[in-house]
Amino acid sequence: MLGGKVAIVTGAGLGIGREEALALATHGARVLVNDLAPQDGGSDNAAETVRMIRGAGGEAVAFHEDVGSFDAGRRIVEAALDAFGRLDILVNNAGFARPASIAEMTEEEWHSVIAVHLTGHFATTRHAAPIFRDQRSGVIVNTASESGLGHLGMANYAAAKEGIVAFTKSVARELAQYGVRCNAIRPRALTNMGSEKLFETLTTSQDVLGFPIHGNRWVNLDEINPPAQVGQFVAWLCSDASRPANGETFFVGGGTVGLYSDPEIVRSMHDADGWTPQRLSEPAARAYLLDGVEDRYSGKAARREGVL
Ligand SMILES: NC(=O)c1ccc[n+]([C@@H]2O[C@H](COP(=O)([O-])OP(=O)(O)OC[C@H]3O[C@@H](n4cnc5c(N)ncnc54)[C@H](O)[C@@H]3O)[C@@H](O)[C@H]2O)c1
Repeated sequence: MLGGKVAIVTGAGLGIGREEALALATHGARVLVNDLAPQDGGSDNAAETVRMIRGAGGEAVAFHEDVGSFDAGRRIVEAALDAFGRLDILVNNAGFARPASIAEMTEEEWHSVIAVHLTGHFATTRHAAPIFRDQRSGVIVNTASESGLGHLGMANYAAAKEGIVAFTKSVARELAQYGVRCNAIRPRALTNMGSEKLFETLTTSQDVLGFPIHGNRWVNLDEINPPAQVGQFVAWLCSDASRPANGETFFVGGGTVGLYSDPEIVRSMHDADGWTPQRLSEPAARAYLLDGVEDRYSGKAARREGVL
């Protein structure tokens, strides 16, 4: 399915990224496996992913780089060209979370999360784009999250992830004329970041609070699986079999795959003279605009203590 193609997967030393690299290699791609360099005598996870790919008869090289800067993106793209002489697929996956209440979030917690996700996606894509444009082909898969639809206690992560959706749709519009596609996934999988404990906390908290802690689908522990399914889905998304998908956002996790809609205006009023607070408060106008709108998040606020 991907024979002859060369792929980059960022954050491919563990979790979802590792499964994406394995799946891409199984389907014939040669893979640049990016992850952080081993720290404090820890294990070299990127090298381990490469060993796994080679052990299964595939081709891969490891490249250690922190994705969160413009120059890092350039070095990652250059490393793939140096290793394999071309580039066809870019899977932006690397990332981490720094949960914090918005009333207490530090500048570092904000900037580090924006850097690894949003800048990390921008930097590699920025340096792959001229190659894809000139060769008139290429596929980009970005990693968003259900958290982008709102996540209690992770405003930094949610903002970065929904920025990635906007980035994806914009890049798709821009590069489509060159035959390049750019889509995003909102995955769910058991990993270091998506730990069993985290999903249990989300489940308990949503039961107590009465609304989904993140996104608009309730977390159901039966749906939380290891990330192999995400890898298979992304391999498909990187292949011609997923045409014409471009600028789309998909759910993938626990045996379920799905396509997200774009937000739409669900009702509107027009007045050529414009609206004032007084006019918007007139009963008919107010009732029309706010029909069906309810206070979704404060109903059980009194029970929050000790939940998250
Ligand atoms: N697991 C889930 O349910 C879930 C849900 C939504 C989104 N995601 C997203 O999926 C992606 C992968 O997450 P995961 O669950 O596999 O997490 P993970 O922690 O298991 O793996 C993330 C990998 O990214 C690497 N990484 C972190 N910072 C990096 C950096 N600056 N440069 C290069 N590599 C870096 C880590 O070393 C690690 O190998 C992330 O973008 C995450 O936000 C995961």
